[in-house]
Amino acid sequence: IPSSFGVILRTTEKIVWANEFEIELTCLIESISTNNPRIEWKKIKNGIPSYVYFQNKIADLEQRAQLKEPANILIWNTTRSDTAEYRCEVAAIDDQRDFDEILISLAVRKPVVPRCSVPEAVTVGTSTELRCLENEGFPTPLYRWFHNNDELPEDPKNSLKFVNSSYTINPDTGSLKFRRVRKEDAGEYYCQAKNDAGHAQCHPQVMEIDVDILGIFLKSFGAVVVFFCFAAPICLTFKRGCFQKKGHNENYNWPAQANGVDYGDADEGHFRHKSSFII
Ligand SMILES: *[C@@H]1O[C@H](CO)[C@@H](O)[C@H](O)[C@H]1NC(C)=O
Ligand SMILES: *[C@@H]1O[C@H](CO)[C@@H](O)[C@H](O)[C@H]1NC(C)=O
Repeated sequence: IPSSFGVILRTTEKIVWANEFEIELTCLIESISTNNPRIEWKKIKNGIPSYVYFQNKIADLEQRAQLKEPANILIWNTTRSDTAEYRCEVAAIDDQRDFDEILISLAVRKPVVPRCSVPEAVTVGTSTELRCLENEGFPTPLYRWFHNNDELPEDPKNSLKFVNSSYTINPDTGSLKFRRVRKEDAGEYYCQAKNDAGHAQCHPQVMEIDVDILGIFLKSFGAVVVFFCFAAPICLTFKRGCFQKKGHNENYNWPAQANGVDYGDADEGHFRHKSSFII
């Protein structure tokens, strides 16, 4: 019978895309007559081999790998550094053909959710940049941007919807730059990082477009008004409270410090979202 003449290995996947945190490299023994064959796994990275499984023990990838019957290997928490070729070798002393090996390459890694930065508000007519970054995917992913769920074409001139927009996209770096923002550029933006193993995207973030400098002036002016209406009385109340307990000099300097600044910021943020000066 041919099958008793030697060891023959087979795998279900010769190229494994490591897009999950747990992967299994398969090394199936199709035929063998030796009872306790010697099983070894080697990892070959940049031409240099190291042992993953040797003398019935996990060597490299300590705590992250396990042999699974018959000769498969499980690896957890794969990272980019696990990208390599893996070789399963089985030696069967009692077989006529007493050795076989199979090479599997662990290659691609799915991107994780990219980090996106979208300015909250931009003044009409000014320039701005939105950024997107992902650094787990392998090979390095390419980036795409979406505005209110519509993909931004690489060249706005190619689209009826975006023809008047002044943006440029760099799919390699994830940068989306506007030379001059328009009212119509306002909306929700998100970015997607994609490679052969898959894709991931960040949550949409809103970019508002402010009318003009006057709008900004009124906003700041409003913040000052709000400060005097709300923050200042609060400070005064505190001051009086302290005044009764503590010494004269100590609390005299107090209200203008950190608290004053905090109230100013908080109120400005609050005021911004009232949208009176935002379109
Ligand atoms: C794998 O990662 C998870 C969470 O990221 C961690 O809790 C776990 O301990 C890791 N396992 C190993 C074997 O490193
Ligand atoms: C683009 O600008 C042209 C000329 O100002 C205008 O006629 C057209 O409607 C604009 N298109 C869009 C989609 O806004």
